[in-house]
Order: sequence, then structure tokens, then C-alpha cells
Amino acid sequence: MNLELRQQLAQMLAETRRRTLALAELVDEQWLTRQFRPYLSPIVWDLGHVADFEKLWLIDAITSAETKSHLRLRPLYNPFDHPRKDRGELSLPRYAETRAHMSRVRERVIDILFSLPMSSDETLLRDGYVYRMVAQHEGQHQETMLQAINIIGQEGAPVELAASIESSSREPRPSEAIDDEQRVSIPAGSCTIGTNDRTRCYDNERPRREVKLPVFAIDRYPVTNRRWLVFMDDGGYANRDWWTADGWRWLAGSHVRHPQGWCKDAQGGWLETTFGIERPLVLNEPVQQVSYFEAEAFARWAGGRLPSEFEWEKAAAWDSASGCARRLPWGDEPSADCANIDLSRWHPAPVGSYPGGVSANGVEQLVGDVYEWTASRFDGYPGFEAFPFLEYSEPFFGSYYRVLRGAAWSTPTMLARCSYRNWDLRERRQLFSGLRVAWDAD
Ligand code: AVJ
Ligand code: FE
Repeated sequence: MNLELRQQLAQMLAETRRRTLALAELVDEQWLTRQFRPYLSPIVWDLGHVADFEKLWLIDAITSAETKSHLRLRPLYNPFDHPRKDRGELSLPRYAETRAHMSRVRERVIDILFSLPMSSDETLLRDGYVYRMVAQHEGQHQETMLQAINIIGQEGAPVELAASIESSSREPRPSEAIDDEQRVSIPAGSCTIGTNDRTRCYDNERPRREVKLPVFAIDRYPVTNRRWLVFMDDGGYANRDWWTADGWRWLAGSHVRHPQGWCKDAQGGWLETTFGIERPLVLNEPVQQVSYFEAEAFARWAGGRLPSEFEWEKAAAWDSASGCARRLPWGDEPSADCANIDLSRWHPAPVGSYPGGVSANGVEQLVGDVYEWTASRFDGYPGFEAFPFLEYSEPFFGSYYRVLRGAAWSTPTMLARCSYRNWDLRERRQLFSGLRVAWDAD
């Protein structure tokens, strides 16, 4: 690692930390120590866990000469010792103490970063890999913190956000006349799925391989609030025909009748509340905060199905002209003009807002706006090797989790890429997640 790379990595860590603390500052301290949902940690737990994870990898792992297999997170901040639902019961350090721990760790990390031998060739350090892994991990926890802050706002606590949310409603909007039901046909044939990148990607994105898919069609845009309302008005939540047995059981138990955060105003129009702030529902924005079960029912109602994660990746990344997969739908470099990511708005952007972000296959808003549910179970690719630790992906492989692809408006730029795989349980709606529909043929 040369000096320039070290400086870049230090800056990446500093920028990530600035965002993390800015998020924690959005709510009064008393809310940071409380747990609001069994599937979301108290925010101080996220913060302490982020610091301990950083200490484990950027201090303990890279300074220990021998095997790293004995390294473990302290039980308090180890997700496997304390599942999310129990984290409200832990006696956690308060915010000020947690922040002090975070900065102590960080000071040591920066000292080590600039004093490492120049020519370390370990896979962990090569091209700065482990530093990017730690920054991305913090970015992932920023997204869970945002999900918690959304709920805190919903519970009636003030969130210092009104300005961010309102300013974006003054932005220019694409014409309402865009046909949000356009479909794109993806020709049959081979493409590559996944990556061999070892500078910034997670183990579950590797290895790259060739996959052959039959022709299919896919929505050009993510499903909009307008289309979701048509589904609702057509009895989408009342008609058993659109739901699988598991989905119908979940629906009966949950009493869900619309996406999370929607409610009716006195005139019977729909409002969407996020972070405790109400906005009239914007019809041409992608729908968000729906579960896998709801997404699956919508897709069936639309005469189609959810795409597999491979179909999604082909539509997003595959460029048949060059015979290569792109890192992002529009090319290899991130661009704020091409996608709604990184909190540049605090909600999805209307469909048609990012023509520059179109994929080689003619599909839009794949990365940004909302994570998209796919039909695929979360599993290792053939040849999967856990790296650098067992617990990132492998414990979640199997039948329960479904893969989400793309990125949301809340996703840090460093996590936005076509090969990135997010995952959650089918009933979860706290994510900023939507969908697009696929059909077997045109
Ligand atoms: C990839 C978002 C599902 O939050 O469980 C954070 C990311 N892994 N710390 C999660 C993660 C370990 C992970 N997701
Ligand atoms: Fe974590």
C-alpha cells in the first residue's frame, strides 16, 4: 500500500464516520438506547458494534502475526451472542461513552494504517481490502440505523430532518406522462454473474461464472406507487389468488393492507410518512417498504413473477456488445447523475429521473431508489469461499432469506454495485425495498 492509497483509505473511513455520527445526531439521545422493534437494534448497539468490528479487523487482525481464527467480537457486540430481539435488554454504554470508544479505536487504526510495512502482500491488506470491508460494514449499519430512525419518527419522536425531506420535493420532476408499465425484453443467452474482485466485494459475490438464461421481459422501471394503488383497488390484499400459502398466512397474521408508512388523509387521499414526516403520496415514485410476500403477490397479479437474482443482474450489468459485466448499470464509475443513492434525497425519485443510469439492456433505476426483492434464496455461488470470516454470509445461507438487489436512496456509494447481494426475511418491511416484475416471454 503506497502513501496515496493509505491517505485515500483514511479519508474513506473519516467520511463514513462523519455520516454515521450525523445520523445518530438526528434524534435526541434518549431514543438511541431504546429498542423499538425486535428486528432492529438500539442505535447505540450499532455504534458500539461498528467500533468493535473495526478494532477486530483494523487493529487485532492486521497486527497479529499468527492465525486469526481466535479473533472474536466481544460478546456484548457480537450478533451471534445476542440476537437482535434481545439487544434492548443489554446494558449498553450510553451514547457519549460509545462515541469515546469509537474515536479511541479510530485513532489507533489511523496510526497503524500509516505505520504498516509498505510491502505487505497478505490478501487481507492487498489493495486496501480490509479497510474497504470495514467502511462498507459501517455503511451497512448506517442503513439499519436509518431504518430505526424511520421507526423512531413513526413512534412520534422528532427527527431533525424536515429540511432534507422538504427540499427534495422542490426538485424538478420528470413528466407524469412517462409510461411506468414499459417492459424490456432481455434476449436469451449467456452472461456472467458475480465477480472475482478482491478489492471491494464481499465473499458472497464471488466467484464469477457464466450463466445461460432464456429470454425474459422485465419492468423498465421499479414498480410505482401508482401501480401499487391499482393493485390495492383491484383487491390485491383481499384476493387469495395472488398469494402463496406462506404469503397468505403472513398476511392473515399481520393485518397489512398497504405498504408500511401509508395512511389516508381526511379527504381520502393517501399520505406517506417516513421519519415521522408526512408527504402526499407521489404516484410516480417507486413503492417502498413492502415485504417479499407483498412483492410476490403484486408480481403474480401483474401476470408475472419476481425476477431471479441472475435475471436482475443480467438486466443490470450485462453488456453483450463488450461481452463484459459492468460494475454499475451505466458503466464502471459511480456517478451522482446516474442514480438516487447516498442520501442525496430521503426517498425514491420518480421513475424517469435518471435516464443517464440506463443499463446496456435499456433498464432504468436498477441501482438506487429502492432495493428490489428477487425470487432467489440466499446461497453461496458454486465455489463459494468464506472470506475473511465465516460469519458474514454463510450462517444466512439456506431457505429462509431472500436476496434483494440494487441499492436504495439510503445506500452509501461504496456499496452500490450490480453484484452486491443484500438479504432479509420474507416478512420484513423496514427496509427501503420495492420490486420490479419479470415475465417469462414478451
Ligand atoms: C447484508 C444488510 C443483510 O445487516 O445483517 C452488517 C449486513 N452484516 N453486519 C445485515 C451486515 C454484518 C447485513 N445485510
Ligand atoms: Fe455488523
